[in-house]
Amino acid sequence: MALKIENIRKSYGDLKVLDGVSFEVREGEILCIVGESGCGKTTLLKIIAGIEKADSGKISIKDGRIGFVFQDVRLLPWKTVLGNIEFVLGSMGMDKSKAREMVKLVGLEGFEDYYPKHLSGGMQQRVGIARAIAIDPDLLLMDEPFANLDALTKERMQCELLRIIRGKTVIFVTHDIDEAVYLADRVVILSKRPAKVVDIIDIDLPKPRDRVSEKFLEYKRRIYDLL
Ligand SMILES: Nc1ncnc2c1ncn2[C@@H]1O[C@H](COP(=O)(O)OP(=O)(O)OP(=O)(O)O)[C@@H](O)[C@H]1O
Ligand SMILES: [Mg+2]
Repeated sequence: MALKIENIRKSYGDLKVLDGVSFEVREGEILCIVGESGCGKTTLLKIIAGIEKADSGKISIKDGRIGFVFQDVRLLPWKTVLGNIEFVLGSMGMDKSKAREMVKLVGLEGFEDYYPKHLSGGMQQRVGIARAIAIDPDLLLMDEPFANLDALTKERMQCELLRIIRGKTVIFVTHDIDEAVYLADRVVILSKRPAKVVDIIDIDLPKPRDRVSEKFLEYKRRIYDLL
């Protein structure tokens, strides 16, 4: 077990957001969290990352580095692709020369010297992923990284992501059921706000997965019915 979340509660003023959320994350698995917009997914990731504080509950996590791919990317606009990755490596006291390897890993060779505003949305997302993975995180948190991409680019990125993050422990937040069934080893389903865990489903299908196979569609239907 890489991480254990027990009975996390969080409110913003009178707004109750998380209402006793509990689940475990296993070493090396991709755990997807699905739930409708505004139910508290980002809040939960921020609590896991230590950016926000829970009102109560417990998170047991081994010491280690956490990589965060933000919902809104958050690249430094005044730094190039390479510069953005080098900046994170430098801030962690790590070897900056690794940045070029990361650019290659996410398929952005030739764009090293581009500024974020001259990249497509999908390319910016790749930089965000490269930056998060560059620090060799023990836990990778991904917050709807592909939400703003067109359907085709999204499917291609999901496929590439499985290669890029192989073996890592990942929590991947999405409200896209197809994406969750494609990527996840297990899916945590959250209720509407205030969020509780409705169910946790094992996706027992070999990867890469066939999105139109009967079993794949059965999983989608099952999750859809729970949301
Ligand atoms: N810093 C904050 N201060 C006050 N309210 C907040 C804050 N952050 C989030 N909220 C509220 O908490 C609720 C959950 O927000 P959160 O961003 O966690 O939702 P989400 O599940 O990630 O939604 P989405 O899928 O749209 O990204 C929302 O109603 C939001 O308005
Ligand atoms: Mg969110």
